[in-house]
Amino acid sequence: MRKISIEINGAIATAEVEARTQLADFLRGERFLTGTHIGCEHGVCGACTVLIDGCLARSCITFAVACDGAKVTTIEGLRDDPIMANLRAAFSAHHALQCGYCTPAMLIACRDIVMRLPDADEPRVRLELSGNLCRCTGYVGIVAAVKEVLEKRGMSDARPANPRTELGPVGARAPAASQLGQRTVRRPVTDGNIPRSAIRDTLGAEQWRAVDTRGVELAQTFRVPFPRERVWEFFADLEQVARCMPGARLTTPPLNGRAEGEVGVKLGPIVGAFAGALEVERDDRRFGGVVRCAGRDARSGSNAHAVISYHVHALGEATSRVDVSVKFLLTGALAQFGRSGLVRDVVSHLTAMFAVNLETSLSGKPIPKDASAVLDAASLARAALWSRIRALFSKLTGN
Ligand code: FES
Ligand code: FES
Repeated sequence: MRKISIEINGAIATAEVEARTQLADFLRGERFLTGTHIGCEHGVCGACTVLIDGCLARSCITFAVACDGAKVTTIEGLRDDPIMANLRAAFSAHHALQCGYCTPAMLIACRDIVMRLPDADEPRVRLELSGNLCRCTGYVGIVAAVKEVLEKRGMSDARPANPRTELGPVGARAPAASQLGQRTVRRPVTDGNIPRSAIRDTLGAEQWRAVDTRGVELAQTFRVPFPRERVWEFFADLEQVARCMPGARLTTPPLNGRAEGEVGVKLGPIVGAFAGALEVERDDRRFGGVVRCAGRDARSGSNAHAVISYHVHALGEATSRVDVSVKFLLTGALAQFGRSGLVRDVVSHLTAMFAVNLETSLSGKPIPKDASAVLDAASLARAALWSRIRALFSKLTGN
């Protein structure tokens, strides 16, 4: 159990929670704030949307412990908010709800649009609402309600408000310094390029502690028909190793066991290009090493951290066994797919492909192009994994 303190709707709530407790369960089960609804529990439908430090967040995929020191606002906390009052009236006037299941979160998302985007037109409103699914209304009334409130505010010269300035403990606005203590504040990435400083941050000790406590671990073993010394020597060359990993490439030459690179993934709705850095520690006496990799996908704002430990064992003179243990943590929008076991399957598949490419490389043959390109559906189809992934997406989207 971990002790946390969260400001919820203006009042400090202190409690002991399991590390795995999601914020949505904490709000509903512990604080009885049942206006936060739970639909998919995968970060897809948006029914659980709340504000964390002023920004929209999926409470079903946000750990309560990650919100320690943050400000959380639920629909109940917006009862007296003037924009929310306007939206409630407009929803009623435009018949923007039927069963009402999506409505609390939809109202919070609509308020966010009104505050941030005073000039939003209908396509923009629809785009902004694409993260909140409504199974009843067809969105016509909801969009009309938002437009009406936007127009009325435009006529009254109300100032747009944008509370988003810095990233805080759960990826939203930074908390007050007194709440922050010694925590590192991450700056937002403003375009597709990863600033050098961000790469350094991603390799900070704080990040690795999170991988240790919250990461998903999997272990794999594979054999290669080459002597241990030969395999060990191969692992010392980071460029060769990167070439064996589907979708990966180095963007800077390795120096003192560190390098920068990127990994491309394209699997249905998971489209990412993680750019980041890695560092390697090797122990020649034990034929073992540890690789720490951290990357950020600028498009989705997701972060990936992985700690890969490996050992090369001699199985006789001409064969080696490689034991690999991967511990990884995905945060941000793409983390929704981590809970399904999908990421575990993909990492497992990647390790298997790496083993095949390693053997090819050690044999002095070139790695086939389609085995080193972006990790995509086609490469997984050959591993009979794609049908599982498709089934998962159908379940998530209801199609
Ligand atoms: S319940 Fe959280 S996004 Fe669906
Ligand atoms: S009103 Fe029923 S889901 Fe939106």
